[in-house]
Amino acid sequence: MKATMVLKRDHQAVAQLFRDFERLADDDLAGRRLLVDRIRSELDVHTRIEEELFYPELERVEEARDLVREGRTEHQLVKDLCAEIARLDPAGLDYVAKIEVLRENVDHHVDEEESEIFPLAKKHLSSERLEKLGDQLEHRREELFKALRKAETV
Ligand SMILES: [Fe+2]
Repeated sequence: MKATMVLKRDHQAVAQLFRDFERLADDDLAGRRLLVDRIRSELDVHTRIEEELFYPELERVEEARDLVREGRTEHQLVKDLCAEIARLDPAGLDYVAKIEVLRENVDHHVDEEESEIFPLAKKHLSSERLEKLGDQLEHRREELFKALRKAETV
């Protein structure tokens, strides 16, 4: 699968988790915790595979450099929000508001990536390169999820 497709599939998976969160009953704190853990893991793995494999490839393209820099900055915002949320009580008043802010940040970043960065990737990288990169992303994604699951069961 092409790198852009792999990343797009991740974007859709996270969007679905946010929708699931929205549908939770107000008193379903266990559900909140579970979904937010999954959202945080997805975002953690997704930002890491992009930063390790996808962004460096695009940084070699002059036309994409500023956008990638912006992407990295947006990742950092998302990570900071995730870290903040991890410390909050799911029953607290500002919990849902914080998740909404996270969602808005993620939505904005995803829009920008899909409408500006992906077209440049398709323009400057060959189909073969995108396929190869897609395999690498999937492989690394699997590795990172395995490591996360292992850390959870220790
Ligand atoms: Fe990203």
